[in-house]
Amino acid sequence: MPTTAIPFIAGNWKMHGLKSEALDLVVALGKGLQSSERHCDVAIFPPATLLSTLSEFCQQYTIGLGGQDCFYEERGAFTGDISPIMLKDAGCQYVLLGHSERRSLHEETSIAVHKKAKTAHKAGLITVICIGETLEHKENGQTLTVLQEQIVESIPKTATPGNTIIAYEPVWAIGTGKTPSLAEITEIHHFIHDSLLKPFEKPFRILYGGSVKSGNAREIIEIEHVNGLLVGGASLEAEEFLRIIKAAKHIKEHSS
Ligand code: PGA
Repeated sequence: MPTTAIPFIAGNWKMHGLKSEALDLVVALGKGLQSSERHCDVAIFPPATLLSTLSEFCQQYTIGLGGQDCFYEERGAFTGDISPIMLKDAGCQYVLLGHSERRSLHEETSIAVHKKAKTAHKAGLITVICIGETLEHKENGQTLTVLQEQIVESIPKTATPGNTIIAYEPVWAIGTGKTPSLAEITEIHHFIHDSLLKPFEKPFRILYGGSVKSGNAREIIEIEHVNGLLVGGASLEAEEFLRIIKAAKHIKEHSS
């Protein structure tokens, strides 16, 4: 079965979660997942402080675990940074890279994302690389140009459908309750799919992210070349996140 046929539902916790509430959330999520048939990969991206604590629970419930960022060196004098091998050591299989909050608040460039992804692949992590346009780009008709640039500059040659997942997150849709129209998501996911096929010759899983909730998850996941969802706010509540995961069973299987 191609990887694109298995939906990937990810919860980006951002800077939320203290130990006791995080454990409650993971256990509630795990029990919910155990009580129904599994039809997709599920992963959470908690803050770095929680990774080691949560890893054994994630393993027990077959929930993937990822860091929200990493540095592009393996070790050394880089105060405050965390390397991919450290994420591995803490029990992670994934790392989120190039999220728009890192690109805007920490001035992270696509070149930096590229370097981080390369080191993460070397460490054996699966990278979830985020791309997306701002409202200004959208209003100036630059969406596809910006996405193409981010694809070319952020994704290293070490990327394969097995070690890389792309997340399309329009910046203006993150945490705002606004989403693109279904027609816009359709057009953009086709564009990303085709842009990746040229250099890599294989289809990658492409997630949609930005104000996903249980109320819109199904109509989004049914779109061609939407292979999963990256969920922020709505992943912080187990019941709501479980409803979104359930919607993923409506994914459409496509040949490429
Ligand atoms: P949101 O965030 O679902 O709260 O809009 C998504 C994200 O930033 O990954």
